[in-house]
Amino acid sequence: MSLMKKIEIKEGKAVLHIPDPKEYTVDGKFDPAWSPVFYNPRMKLNRDISVAVAKVFSPKTVIDAFSASGVRGIRYALESGVGHIIFNDVDKNAVDLIKENIELNSIPSYEIYNMEANALLDVKRGVFIDIDPFGSPSPFIQASMRSTGRRGLIGFTATDLSPLEGSSPKACMRKYGATNKRKLSFSKEVGIRILIGRIAKDAAVEEKGIFPVLSFYHGHFFRVFVRVEEGATKADNSLEKMGFVAECERCGYHKFSSDPCDLRRCDYCGCEMNVAGPLWLGQLQDKSLLQQLHLEGEAEKIVSKMRAEATAPPFYYSLDKLSSRLRLSAVPSTSDIVECTSGFYTHFDPKGIKTDLSFEKVIECIKKFVR
Ligand SMILES: C[S@@+](CC[C@H](N)C(=O)[O-])C[C@H]1O[C@@H](n2cnc3c(N)ncnc32)[C@H](O)[C@@H]1O
Ligand SMILES: [Zn+2]
Repeated sequence: MSLMKKIEIKEGKAVLHIPDPKEYTVDGKFDPAWSPVFYNPRMKLNRDISVAVAKVFSPKTVIDAFSASGVRGIRYALESGVGHIIFNDVDKNAVDLIKENIELNSIPSYEIYNMEANALLDVKRGVFIDIDPFGSPSPFIQASMRSTGRRGLIGFTATDLSPLEGSSPKACMRKYGATNKRKLSFSKEVGIRILIGRIAKDAAVEEKGIFPVLSFYHGHFFRVFVRVEEGATKADNSLEKMGFVAECERCGYHKFSSDPCDLRRCDYCGCEMNVAGPLWLGQLQDKSLLQQLHLEGEAEKIVSKMRAEATAPPFYYSLDKLSSRLRLSAVPSTSDIVECTSGFYTHFDPKGIKTDLSFEKVIECIKKFVR
């Protein structure tokens, strides 16, 4: 470990020692996974938003179950005002670096573990649990539910977009227990709702209900925060928000329902539809939390988009995909169609719109602007 070449950087209020990227660059390319301890600057936005969420909830204890360099836990202590941080990583090199970074930032109250995350979550209790693993968070959902006690908050990161978006159907069934055989036009939202669906089901096994308070997609990951409350009725209420979504491959119509039998044939053209699910059909955001987040730059941009779409109906139309299905000469501007449909922009897709209007009306609007 002492042989690892490091550099000093600043992120938020934290000063950090991280592996020198130059030492782990191959053929001019650098992947954070190639260095002995993981630090990805592209995840700063994920951490900025997580720090702001933790500041609003102000939990007494955070379990940073996948600490790597310790950057998250350190930022929760320095910027969110969290009193006690439990750091953990299965990798010994990471644990050594966490210790070094904790000293560097004079974190007053903490514990550090070198354990497999599920084993740690079985024995440690936290109010806010941060699940930020490589790839899918699925293997850690149930233990995180046990760790929160009667009430809590859990943040999940998923970087396995391919199964969640419908590009790896078998992996989606294995990891999330959901059918997702085709990449639908609104695959980003399908993906995040399949992830939340899995969270709701695993919470229910522990007799807990979930309330998603902030859910977003950015670049190469999904991030979801859920409030958790104990009780069989809470669990049942969450499960009632599960269902399916389908898209017609021929005309682009989409529909969601708690009963997949409602989704077999397209209401517009009678064609067979591609069905995905089970997935979460309930709310993705808590509007009042979004109002309380104080952020800057890129993070503020995405949160302001989430504020604007917090009350929009589930699932969006991709103007790119609809225009090509309709064989139009061009794609209309998102702003024209949002205005025409009294609809909403969505952070999931710059060419996406959400609306309460019927599919026919959406098509009418599109044809008004482009032929
Ligand atoms: C994506 S990185 C975490 C990044 C960190 N949270 C951040 O924001 O920079 C995942 C980390 O989890 C650790 N890890 C992988 N599998 C684990 C497991 N089953 N239990 C505990 N730690 C694990 C890896 O060693 C790695 O440091
Ligand atoms: Zn159709």
